[in-house]
Amino acid sequence: MLKILQKSFRWPLAWLELLFDKPFGPPWNPLRQLGTLAFFFFWVSAVSGIYVFIVFDTSVGGAFTSVEAMTQQWYFGSVMRSLHRYASDAMVVLTVLHVIREFSLDRYRGARWYSWFTGIPVVWLLFVSGISGYWLVWDRLAQYVAIGSMEWIDWLGIFGEPVANNFLTQGSLDDRFFSLLVFIHIFGPLFLLFMMWVHILRINSSKTNPPRGLAVGSFTMMVVLSFVWPAVSHAPADLGTVPAVLNLDWFFMFLYPLFDVWGPGALWGIAFGGSLFLCITPWLPPLKKARVPEVFLEQCNGCTRCFEDCPYGAVAMRQRTDGRPFEKEAVVDPDLCTSCGICVGACPMSTPFRHANKLVTGIDLPDLPLNMVQARMAAAIEEARAENSKDTPSIMVIGCEHGADPGKAQGRATRSLTLPCIGMLPPSFLDYALSGAGVDGVMLTGCNDCDCFHRFGIPWTEDRLAGLRDPYLRKRVPRERLHACWAGEKGAGRLTEELEGFRRRLIDIKNTPGDGT
Ligand code: HEM
Ligand code: SF4
Ligand code: SF4
Repeated sequence: MLKILQKSFRWPLAWLELLFDKPFGPPWNPLRQLGTLAFFFFWVSAVSGIYVFIVFDTSVGGAFTSVEAMTQQWYFGSVMRSLHRYASDAMVVLTVLHVIREFSLDRYRGARWYSWFTGIPVVWLLFVSGISGYWLVWDRLAQYVAIGSMEWIDWLGIFGEPVANNFLTQGSLDDRFFSLLVFIHIFGPLFLLFMMWVHILRINSSKTNPPRGLAVGSFTMMVVLSFVWPAVSHAPADLGTVPAVLNLDWFFMFLYPLFDVWGPGALWGIAFGGSLFLCITPWLPPLKKARVPEVFLEQCNGCTRCFEDCPYGAVAMRQRTDGRPFEKEAVVDPDLCTSCGICVGACPMSTPFRHANKLVTGIDLPDLPLNMVQARMAAAIEEARAENSKDTPSIMVIGCEHGADPGKAQGRATRSLTLPCIGMLPPSFLDYALSGAGVDGVMLTGCNDCDCFHRFGIPWTEDRLAGLRDPYLRKRVPRERLHACWAGEKGAGRLTEELEGFRRRLIDIKNTPGDGT
């Protein structure tokens, strides 16, 4: 059931992402930056909110007029007010898309349960912050939302006196109660920020800022929107009347019309039931957990590379326990590990150029040990070479479980190898594949550029190949016989196209006199 749901979300989202890649390019594609954009709009909302609060009169009598006076100043006050409102609306849209995307990509289970679970209070706090903001304008919409919210809360029977009584008559709402509403709107966002921080606490080097160009572009769009379509108030609140025609902010208030139809009990059921369901989803079937890497102390020299490269902070360096003359040793926290294998690719001992019969490295995946990767690679090289001819160069395509399927490239002297993440590939394996009795070319593939399923698989691989990160690819490896195509899950067509181009390049290299391949 969950799988069907995931696929039905994933299919349209993946195509939309591809569509957006064309004008924006992968790094600026907003659909690949939903979390960072939500952070960005939080800051836009916070800064504009500070201005709005400075000019705001916190009394029942003065609130509406102070907001109106600000709105009259079309060139600044009105823009700040509009930015405050639209940035909050944008956060709702971005959060909903972010949740759907992480869910559809299956990035909410296992070690990732923490980000998922702590995201749920973030949603509640986002709504408390947004709704409480609408109260403060003290217009007809505020009246409608405040009374609705209080009746909703009263249904729970937590307070002795119904809080909705504060809104019975024109005189029943005093400044003290209004100050409480202001207090909620200040502390709601502060607590929201705290929970956003908790949400990303367990993610190693988490990205909270969108690329600068994307930030500038989306901010400019929002400023233009604020000028063209400024946020305005309804008529002042009048507790003696029932507001008739209202222009709701559907991003925050979509539940309120249902209140009139279904009543408070049903809405609490939806809100609590929905949250509870989200809370348990990481533990619903199908549960699959690959075994986490094992550290082989006799091979580990405590170099810390696995610790630095793990995208999930699952490797810790602790005091040496085996008496060997190294200061530290690596240790894996199974609760944080996603079995991506990036640490295996980072380990200096992960090299096939060793004399031992069986390749044993410092840190290895029990379900796909490096000696198995080496054996598969050797077999694939042999098969590819057997079909190799002057016009058909032998090629090895190495990819991951989350991008374009490298298996689709098989045939015509081409063989494939699939890893959990491309970051698991130690650069020395490329040297091995291309040197001596190796293949004519190696093509690397994986997730979309800037959108690695395991966060750092692609950037670390690129850095290792460029000699910017240990372990790096040796200089002697001919770079012209290497090609990377970050095609992504829907990129089978692009992979085939680039493979064809790479094949032609290799034919040229092969047929160039003096080339030793
Ligand atoms: C204001 C709302 C939110 C913001 C600003 C936000 C922001 C972020 C950021 C910045 C990341 C890390 C990106 C990275 O560096 O890889 C992230 C990851 C994630 N978020 Fe959110 N998030 C929000 C709400 C939520 C909600 C409501 C949920 C789910 C209920 C959720 C689930 C996740 C998950 C599962 C990850 C993936 C962690 C991983 O890749 O290990 N987020 N979020
Ligand atoms: S397998 Fe991945 S998540 Fe686990 S320790 Fe290694 S790098 Fe970290
Ligand atoms: S990268 Fe290898 S050698 Fe270095 S600390 Fe990790 S397991 Fe040990």
